[in-house]
Amino acid sequence: MCGIVGVLGDHEVAPILVEALRRLEYRGYDSAGIATVNNGQLDRRRAVGKLVNLSDLLVHDPLPGKSGIGHTRWATHGAPTTGNAHPHRAGRVAVVHNGIIENYKELRAELAGHGIRPETETDTETVALLCQHHLDQGKTPVDAAVATIDALKGAFALVFLFDGEADLLIAARKGSPLAIGHGDGEMYVGSDAIALAPLTNRITYLEEGDRAVVTRAGAEIRDQAGKLANREIREIRLESARIDKGGYKHFMAKEIAEQPGVLSNALRAYLNRDTIALPVEGLDFNKIDRLVMVACGTAFYACLTAKYWFEKLAGLPVEVDIASEFRYREPPIPSGTVALFVSQSGETADTLAALRYCRDKADRIISVVNVPESSIARESDIALPIHAGVEVGVASTKAFTCQLNVLLLLALKAAHARGRMDDAALAGMLDDLRGMPGLFNAALDRDGVIAQAAQKIAEARDVLFLGRGLMYPLALEGALKLKEISYIHAEAYASGELKHGPIALIDKSVPVIVMAPRDSLFEKTVSNMQEVMARGGKVCLITDAAGAQEAGGDVWQVIRMPEVSETLAPLLYALPAQLLAYHAAIAKGTDVDQPRNLAKSVTVE
Ligand code: AGP
Repeated sequence: MCGIVGVLGDHEVAPILVEALRRLEYRGYDSAGIATVNNGQLDRRRAVGKLVNLSDLLVHDPLPGKSGIGHTRWATHGAPTTGNAHPHRAGRVAVVHNGIIENYKELRAELAGHGIRPETETDTETVALLCQHHLDQGKTPVDAAVATIDALKGAFALVFLFDGEADLLIAARKGSPLAIGHGDGEMYVGSDAIALAPLTNRITYLEEGDRAVVTRAGAEIRDQAGKLANREIREIRLESARIDKGGYKHFMAKEIAEQPGVLSNALRAYLNRDTIALPVEGLDFNKIDRLVMVACGTAFYACLTAKYWFEKLAGLPVEVDIASEFRYREPPIPSGTVALFVSQSGETADTLAALRYCRDKADRIISVVNVPESSIARESDIALPIHAGVEVGVASTKAFTCQLNVLLLLALKAAHARGRMDDAALAGMLDDLRGMPGLFNAALDRDGVIAQAAQKIAEARDVLFLGRGLMYPLALEGALKLKEISYIHAEAYASGELKHGPIALIDKSVPVIVMAPRDSLFEKTVSNMQEVMARGGKVCLITDAAGAQEAGGDVWQVIRMPEVSETLAPLLYALPAQLLAYHAAIAKGTDVDQPRNLAKSVTVE
């Protein structure tokens, strides 16, 4: 999604804005720009492509000034061109925007009635034109911006900068996150705390409907009704004040390798000897009749995995749904229902909307997030941080395994509370879980073998993933990883579904990746593999030593994983899926950390 920054500073602001935008690159973008006020004059520079193009432009055509705004654009309305890049300007006002203005066409028609016509295809330019129109009618910059904000429908985060106003930014949040940074005689605005980390860790998160009048003296925040709002200034502990690859070629590689460490951190945070110390005070698992879990993408596959755990271990009925369908289907939420939302960013628009649908219906709202200050966390009754650390790569890796870790701990806590797991069984499960970081380290040693398999898989046009039971959601996740960073078409099926249609896809050109530790369902999977191989399909089997032994020698490729219990296998088997996708993407030469068309946090529908 787009990235927004604003600075009222004591120094030349252009390099500060570009550095802040660089920290937002992970969100995905296709153009960038900044605007400043210098000696009262508003001016801007914009460039298509990566930030380095904007930096080059600024070398040849500097933009002085100590007040400014910046933006990385992920194209929604209008192609990624310089003309469509933000900041958009109309007369005395420049604006940067994250989100979608749903009524921009109606607003354009109204402005046309005043002879005001746009020059670009973007909804954002309409915001600038409307604000200038209000200025033309004699409103002050603050009143013009507020009148403009009040006229907008849709999801947006906006920052306005005005010609002649070197000590003023106006920020507004409705559906897309926005943070205010408090410096020493300086003030900042950013899409998130990561962008502002080098400048300050004193952050105020705007709430839904808030608008802020920001000067170097501070921020005056009012709610949607125009009433002064007292929003907390938080000290954000950003362990990633420096976001860098740490010597790895890609953020994704670094984040895959970080999994043993971050899982250890999470287990230290949540295990107190044989007690699971999740902050779920007041949650009585015996009074829960059903659990509804809602998420998108990889987070959805974490929920699908957790369904098996909650149902089998805790005897708790679970429904899992993708947020974009759930929010519009308006499912009944009877009493006794707990709604649980999983989101790495905590800002995914569909997941947040689904949470709000459940707000006044479910008995409790729980979220499992990687950003404790995020909107989804703040709107939950209980927010469970996954402690994965900042995840920059668009393809989610360590966040997925850390989501699984927290969801498993929650399922174990429920099983124990509901009398379905005694102390000894729980202690044994927690001991196994404590061994998970070590198994990850051992599995990371398989990187070479996985890379070899990936080279061959990278030659395919279509790839199938198969899994049974707990490995079925992992097959889905593996297919998503491969397709989203290598652009190879990949689909996943429950192994038992093969005969119901998908087997028609099998021929020697279609690698079939079978995720199957030697577990209680392994024999059934072996027969599925034989059906595939009998039709010329090439099977890449991800299993353990026992599984490799039993599968026999006809398998095209075998990736041997360390032994792991059936219950914990999903955490460990995420790793080969991640590495297969990573090495296939390298072989294909795609942009591993910022794959085409994708954004790290989808904050618009
Ligand atoms: C995963 O690799 C993708 N980047 C994407 O599917 C992601 O999981 C999804 O957009 C949900 O994001 P969230 O966890 O931040 O809500």
